[in-house]
Amino acid sequence: MQVVGSPTLQAFLLSLPEHKRQPNLFFAAIRWVVGDVPAANNLPNIVENKGQEIAEVMFARSTQTNEPARCAVLLPLLASLPQPLALLEVGASAGLCLFPDRYAYDYDGTSVGLKEDGPVFQCSVSGAVPVPPELPEVVWRAGLDLNPLDIGSSDARDWLATLVWPEHAERRKRLLRAMDVVAQNPPLLVQGDVRDGLPNLLEQMPDGATPVVFHSAVLSYVADQVEREEFARDMLARDVVWISNESPRVFPSITDKVKGEPPRGKFLLSMNGEPKAWTGPHGQSIQWIDQTDGA
Ligand SMILES: C[S@@+](CC[C@H](N)C(=O)[O-])C[C@H]1O[C@@H](n2cnc3c(N)ncnc32)[C@H](O)[C@@H]1O
Repeated sequence: MQVVGSPTLQAFLLSLPEHKRQPNLFFAAIRWVVGDVPAANNLPNIVENKGQEIAEVMFARSTQTNEPARCAVLLPLLASLPQPLALLEVGASAGLCLFPDRYAYDYDGTSVGLKEDGPVFQCSVSGAVPVPPELPEVVWRAGLDLNPLDIGSSDARDWLATLVWPEHAERRKRLLRAMDVVAQNPPLLVQGDVRDGLPNLLEQMPDGATPVVFHSAVLSYVADQVEREEFARDMLARDVVWISNESPRVFPSITDKVKGEPPRGKFLLSMNGEPKAWTGPHGQSIQWIDQTDGA
């Protein structure tokens, strides 16, 4: 309301190219410049005085996030596979989701992999979720991204933390802990596009481990549905386990296998094109899909 009702804020946003007028980017840039969460009624004043700096941040950066809590919804599938695993993540960002074996989880009171220093991701479960008794074993991991983020850079770390909404204090704390874990031993991250960058990395996957290609909140950025379906066909044709955790709109052919409307605001977790669970978009919940719900 403060933005809509303020001619100063409206004029500022309209001065930016359309793809830079995102609310998340705007508010994160303000926090980056001001170093704090300002009162909403102070926003016009801040923009009048620091508009140039805020615009520079908005031009230089994007809302590229990395949510390691999504490992909580990937874990039941990863742990169900023959171990050990080789993990290849598409759209890995800073690679925080490549470390499901280094975090701890709390599934409605059932603990998995309790560690002293790392983050503990809370995930509420419903339905017959196969909560694993132990963590999977990962022997190889690599990520592909249009713009891989270097977790060793304090600038990248600070920006990732700034992108977490200010009221999500616990989420930010867990993100910081996950970044500490990953920074100790950063993964191989390669710059490339999901549409043509995978073959080179697939060739590097070691023998003797179950090869898993996964992605979470990525394929929606491939706007062309034909290209998404081509990617899906390619995954199904390869000798890999393909795990997708995306909005149900991304692969209608998979979503249509579940009876009824997708629950609002959930992602669809699938394995090799078969729907498995509805998941909270930040990994905060997992609702197993009853196989008898299949269409
Ligand atoms: C919302 S972030 C999700 C990051 C991570 N998968 C997670 O769950 O936290 C989307 C990521 O996908 C990457 N991305 C978008 N389009 C891509 C493409 N065509 N090829 C490779 N990466 C892409 C972005 O750079 C960004 O890092």
